[in-house]
Amino acid sequence: MKFFIDTANINEIKEIAEWGILDGVTTNPSLIAKEGRDLKEVIREITELVDGPISAEVISLISEEMVEEAKELVKIHSNVVIKVPMTEEGLKAVKVLSQMGIKSNVTLVFSAAQALLAAKAGATYVSPFLGRLDDIGHEGMGLIREIVTIFAMHNISTEILSASIRHSIHVIEAAKAGSDIATVPYAVFKQMLKHPLTDSGIERFLKDWENAK
Ligand code: E4P
Repeated sequence: MKFFIDTANINEIKEIAEWGILDGVTTNPSLIAKEGRDLKEVIREITELVDGPISAEVISLISEEMVEEAKELVKIHSNVVIKVPMTEEGLKAVKVLSQMGIKSNVTLVFSAAQALLAAKAGATYVSPFLGRLDDIGHEGMGLIREIVTIFAMHNISTEILSASIRHSIHVIEAAKAGSDIATVPYAVFKQMLKHPLTDSGIERFLKDWENAK
């Protein structure tokens, strides 16, 4: 399973990239706005830190304008992937982008039907949002399982990027379901790393070592 980080914060990306486990990055307008910085400037800096797909989201809701935004964004670096919302206009834009050889990530996917349409239009990635489904009392993981089953059955090459991840159990369950990628927030990476028995184990080993001297 590939790990992307879901943030636009340069320090967070730098720190997790140094662990040597990062395959890519996803951003969205909310994450960029949180940094209070220019989108292109942030994306450029990220491409210098991570050698893998970097999702940058379009703002327009009209397909022709989305394509224009995409053309500008891919000029930043060949690793830039265009994030497009799951709408009629988004699908049209994805089709054009795929014909142009530009990679896309269809975001805000909440049903298998949406995932199928996105894949059919030529999306490189589909992003089902686990946490936001859980928030409204639906089982987010059920959606991942459904998409994995359908894509495998029909040999669909679009990659499944589990998004809106809230804790490490989401990552593990998405891995068990066969999701290709999980885009993980910084805090969840930290949560995945830690176990109290690891910490107390290190402490005991070092104490025993000192005592034996
Ligand atoms: C996906 O690419 C989105 O950026 C993200 O996972 C959204 O997560 P949220 O529901 O925590 O905002």
